[in-house]
Amino acid sequence: MNRTKKNIRLIFAGFIAWLFILFVSISDLKAQLKIPLYLDETQPIEQRVSDALSRMTLEDKVAITHAQSKFSSTGVPRLGIPELWMSDGPNGIREEIQWNSWEPSGWTTDSCTAFPALTCLAATWNPTISRMFGKAIGEEARYRNKNILLGPGVNIYRTPLNGRNLEYMGEDPYLSSKMVVPYIEGVQENGVAACVKHFALNNQETCRNHINVQLSDRALNEIYLPAFKAAVQEGGAMSVMAAYNKFRGQWCAENDLLLNKILKTNWQFKGVVISDWDALHNTDNGANNGLDLEMGTYLPDGKTYNDYFLGFPYLELLKSGKAKIEDLDDKARRILTLIFKTAMNRNKPCGSFGSIEHELVARKIAEEGIVLLQNKANVLPLDVQTIKSIAVIGENATRKMTVGGGSSSLKAKREISPLEGLKNKVGDKIQVKYAQGYSYKTARNDSLLPLAIETAKNADIVLFFGGLSKDEGQDCEGMDRKDYGLPFGQNKLIEELCKVNKKVVVVLISGNAVAMPWTDKVSSIVQAWYEGSEAGNTIANVITGEVNPSGKLPFTINKQLNDYGSHFLGVYSGDSVNVNYKEDILVGYRWNDTKKIKPQFCFGHGLSYTNFTFGTAVADKKTMSDTEILKISIPIKNIGSRKGAEVIQLYVADLKASVLRPAKELKAFRKIELQPGEEKSVAFEIKKSDLQFFDDKSQQWKVEPGKFQILIGSSSQDIRSKIEFNLVN
Ligand code: BGC
Repeated sequence: MNRTKKNIRLIFAGFIAWLFILFVSISDLKAQLKIPLYLDETQPIEQRVSDALSRMTLEDKVAITHAQSKFSSTGVPRLGIPELWMSDGPNGIREEIQWNSWEPSGWTTDSCTAFPALTCLAATWNPTISRMFGKAIGEEARYRNKNILLGPGVNIYRTPLNGRNLEYMGEDPYLSSKMVVPYIEGVQENGVAACVKHFALNNQETCRNHINVQLSDRALNEIYLPAFKAAVQEGGAMSVMAAYNKFRGQWCAENDLLLNKILKTNWQFKGVVISDWDALHNTDNGANNGLDLEMGTYLPDGKTYNDYFLGFPYLELLKSGKAKIEDLDDKARRILTLIFKTAMNRNKPCGSFGSIEHELVARKIAEEGIVLLQNKANVLPLDVQTIKSIAVIGENATRKMTVGGGSSSLKAKREISPLEGLKNKVGDKIQVKYAQGYSYKTARNDSLLPLAIETAKNADIVLFFGGLSKDEGQDCEGMDRKDYGLPFGQNKLIEELCKVNKKVVVVLISGNAVAMPWTDKVSSIVQAWYEGSEAGNTIANVITGEVNPSGKLPFTINKQLNDYGSHFLGVYSGDSVNVNYKEDILVGYRWNDTKKIKPQFCFGHGLSYTNFTFGTAVADKKTMSDTEILKISIPIKNIGSRKGAEVIQLYVADLKASVLRPAKELKAFRKIELQPGEEKSVAFEIKKSDLQFFDDKSQQWKVEPGKFQILIGSSSQDIRSKIEFNLVN
């Protein structure tokens, strides 16, 4: 009996022990199955990032702050956190580059859609088009598994010699701000981060790696920073690229004022600051002054990416207590957040690449960006019913323009040249004869001249395709242009063509202004930019009138170099150590209008094949307090016989101020399309912030009561209606 009882007790104890083991193993299994917080997509990114950070070693954190290849940085493989992959930008997804050299990888699947250069985008003056651009290029980046698009660029057009102006959005801070925001939104909706560049003051390529920019706080805040600020605060850009140059004695990638104070403190930027390639020079400054991710640093033979300033040397500094762990954590937190929002985001769309849809987007942007500068006797659009022969002259009619320019060079899936586009369009009805006329290989083209003249002489009309190229020393990174004039003997050629044919149309393919001493002699001038894959079709559509041009200049085209403030004052590129922006806030049309210098073609200028009348602008009040909004409206009518679009531009002039104010400043614009005979009323709102200036003394934005004028027009010079009002306290 005792024995049976004992057995029962033993069995019972065994059962309890078994239950216990079962419970323990189930809990263990549950624990094992539980997703760590940082991988739990139902949780907020901030908490996931904190959790990931808490699992990372010092070495893990340092590893993510520098490159692991030319265009990538590592993740945390142990935790399953992926790498970051980047691509230029800003007008197409660059071909794959080798891990450790600038040579192409030789892929056969990386031929992209070439979108127009950003000057062309800016010339559309259409934020909706900018969003389309961003969305489409973002889709291309996403498809190619790029997490960061190295663009857009918003450095202000301070001189027409800057080799990189083609990658930026012109001379006006308001226009660039309005155009950059939708581009960024479009890119980032693909789970791809935009990287706004080059922060800041990289307004020349001459001595770009060391030139030290000096300028007033006023010019900094009113002219050079607004587009970056809008990109960060309104566009939510996830990353910013620190420029090569110096600002007030410190390299931009090591610039405490720019990165820590302005960007991260004042603007509350929460994203990642990436160095331009090779723009960091020092570990201490890289550790402390606001940079998060070091890219592209040149390494002598035998060194590896771990030898970057933010690699082993940074680790040493941290271990020795000379750099703060909090700063490393801040960098790592920002980088992880970007990884979580891009590379680790499983809900992002899958993107698409080199598609017909993207080519159509590229064409639409280009069609809206082409600027008709001059059109005497309405020579354009071509009358395809009566014209029998066209002479196409000039090398830019056949040159591929998607290649070149430096880091924005593209391997395009397709590129239609102007000659091809024209032949496709009218080749079956009109005889199209081509002569090269000049060559980019030489400044003297006498041997090419006779055929060009002969071809021009016998044609009903001459279409001259010239301008610049994307070779070094032209519209290209790394060097500025030397001359303002057209290269390769083009001026002489144009003059000769005008002698033998009364109808000469000049089509300029460039990203910059050029001197045009022959404007009186030629019939029409078209600013056609670098337009990417669809260049030829776009130009043909505009020239034949299938598309009515509606682009407006995003920068001033002056008659001579000295009509630009920086050149007039002899301070364009400095003395190779310092450059002092002595023209201060008077950049672009602000200089021309204030100094009363008549440009060749002004900021905001662009003709149409139809005509628009502007009615009288009316405001809802004559006196406005600084908390009120002034409402203005103006009727616009298309009085021609074609559908067309006009950009209604609103400028503000402060009539009496304690400081120098530009004669006028762009503060609003709207692009509207009107059918023949159609009229629309366009409404604008002006608020205090549109009237203010940056006061160096108090370091504050300031607005002074008094008389202001609103000027509404079709360009900065063609003002059609004015209103005065009083600002009171
Ligand atoms: C350019 C950047 C570019 C980077 C990577 C640098 O030389 O300044 O704009 O994104 O190279 O190609």
